[in-house]
Amino acid sequence: MALVVGTLVTLALAEEGPASVERDPAVVAAGEALYVDSCAVCHGADLRGSSTGPPLLVPTYAPNHHADEAFQRAVAFGVQPHHWNFGPMLPVEGLDRDDVSRIITYVRSVQEAEGIFRDPTHP
Ligand code: HEC
Repeated sequence: MALVVGTLVTLALAEEGPASVERDPAVVAAGEALYVDSCAVCHGADLRGSSTGPPLLVPTYAPNHHADEAFQRAVAFGVQPHHWNFGPMLPVEGLDRDDVSRIITYVRSVQEAEGIFRDPTHP
């Protein structure tokens, strides 16, 4: 019986697909404002990249490949180029961890709206 129930639950979850996390719209909006000020110049106002930085709406930047802490580290310490040919990302001044958390909340919400939940090429 437990096995049957377990199977049914698994099937139900599989049919619904990945669940979006409930997010506070005020935090998303605050994150968007910070993103526009500090990140959009390179990652694009629409998160689709620019001539100086990569798009964030690609599976590479889904949470299973670049977890939230990777965003924190990118902002605090910068990034050596390893996925693209834009050159390095320098540390971004003037943002604390809470600010970056708000930015991450915004970026994740847009990723999920685009159907980006995980990078299937990454464990
Ligand atoms: C001056 C341009 C520039 C700005 C401003 C910038 N980035 Fe980047 N960012 C880059 C480039 C270029 C890379 C790609 C490095 C590579 O080749 O992997 C990158 C990579 C990243 C990565 C991937 C990190 C990793 O571990 O691979 C994250 C996350 C990121 N940026 C977040 C942000 C956030 C959040 C902001 C704003 C607070 C921001 N970036 C501002 C240019 C920029």
